[in-house]
Amino acid sequence: MVKKISVVLISLVLVLGFSSLGFSADKGNARKGKYTFRKSCRSCHSDTGSAASISPDSKTQAQWTRQFKPGKVQKLVCKDEWAKISKKDQLDIFTYLHKYAFDSPSPAKCK
Ligand code: HEC
Repeated sequence: MVKKISVVLISLVLVLGFSSLGFSADKGNARKGKYTFRKSCRSCHSDTGSAASISPDSKTQAQWTRQFKPGKVQKLVCKDEWAKISKKDQLDIFTYLHKYAFDSPSPAKCK
């Protein structure tokens, strides 16, 4: 019985470990994305800023995916602001917004 439980536990740890590895490897870093989003975007996109307040839960995952397509970004009023940050930072922001999107398992406001 104890052996069975430990086999289950070990496979659980392995599965969780590998899936989080896969996520951060081909996508960005959500923790860094949150930091960059607050620094570079929330200056305008907050309740006290000059533009509409934006949080991860402002859109669904599919909407964020569409929003971050290059053609879409080029149409934004603030495309020059996006151009100031690196592609890597943009990917991190995308990962952060997508991870906590409206229809994600853990929707969140940006505080
Ligand atoms: C200098 C101020 C400013 C900065 C900085 C800025 N934006 Fe914007 N953004 C605007 C304005 C103004 C609009 C036009 C519509 C509005 O008021 O929301 C806009 C529009 C948008 C929209 C479309 C509106 C919507 O709700 O779908 C998105 C998405 C967006 N910005 C994301 C970002 C992201 C991500 C960053 C950081 C990389 C950023 N913005 C940085 C001013 C800014």
